[in-house]
Amino acid sequence: MTLNYKNLNDLDRYKIMSNTIVPRPIAWIVTEDAGVINAAPFSYFIPLSSNPATLIVSIGKKEDESPKDSLANILKTKKATICFANKDNLEELKLCATSLPKDVSEVKEYSIEVTKILEDFPPMITSSQSALFCEFHSTIDLGGDTTPVILEIKQQFIKDECINEKLHVKMDNVGRIGTSFAAMVKI
Ligand SMILES: Cc1cc2nc3c(=O)[nH]c(=O)nc-3n(C[C@H](O)[C@H](O)[C@H](O)COP(=O)(O)O)c2cc1C
Repeated sequence: MTLNYKNLNDLDRYKIMSNTIVPRPIAWIVTEDAGVINAAPFSYFIPLSSNPATLIVSIGKKEDESPKDSLANILKTKKATICFANKDNLEELKLCATSLPKDVSEVKEYSIEVTKILEDFPPMITSSQSALFCEFHSTIDLGGDTTPVILEIKQQFIKDECINEKLHVKMDNVGRIGTSFAAMVKI
């Protein structure tokens, strides 16, 4: 079967792409605005380059067509902390996908523990093994409903037990396959 993307509607394209381009890592993005800590997962997420250390995450709109809180906060504060999900914090991650009013914090609402690691960046999800402290780089206008955001990684936290002196990193990340989740394990 060959699928001509011109003949697929948005939902069908999403279904095919998100079940084919798998597993995708999940960026659990923490942002802040006026003291409200926002946290939400995004799986249209991929590294772009190590020099400069950049990644891209594609953020859609809310049902009312307004920007999602994560995008609004990144554009306003120019900062984001990207955390990683593992099987132990997956339920918290799923809760963070709920669309709450902008002045309601997911981490407060769902009692998710966060830790302030760096003064100048939003806190990280405490149960994550690693966090990328990022600054806004740019957005790309694709003319569609989503906004791809390029972020530059400035600093990274990794739990001591996940990295050795040779900088070998071992993460227990959970990724996205369609609308399900899968452990990203080495074979
Ligand atoms: C695992 C997972 C991955 C998601 N990936 C994306 C994504 O790549 N882009 C997007 O716009 N929304 C994605 N969502 C939906 C957002 O998490 C959801 O719209 C959330 O409410 C946005 O929150 P915010 O308004 O606080 O930014 C995903 C949800 C889940 C559970």
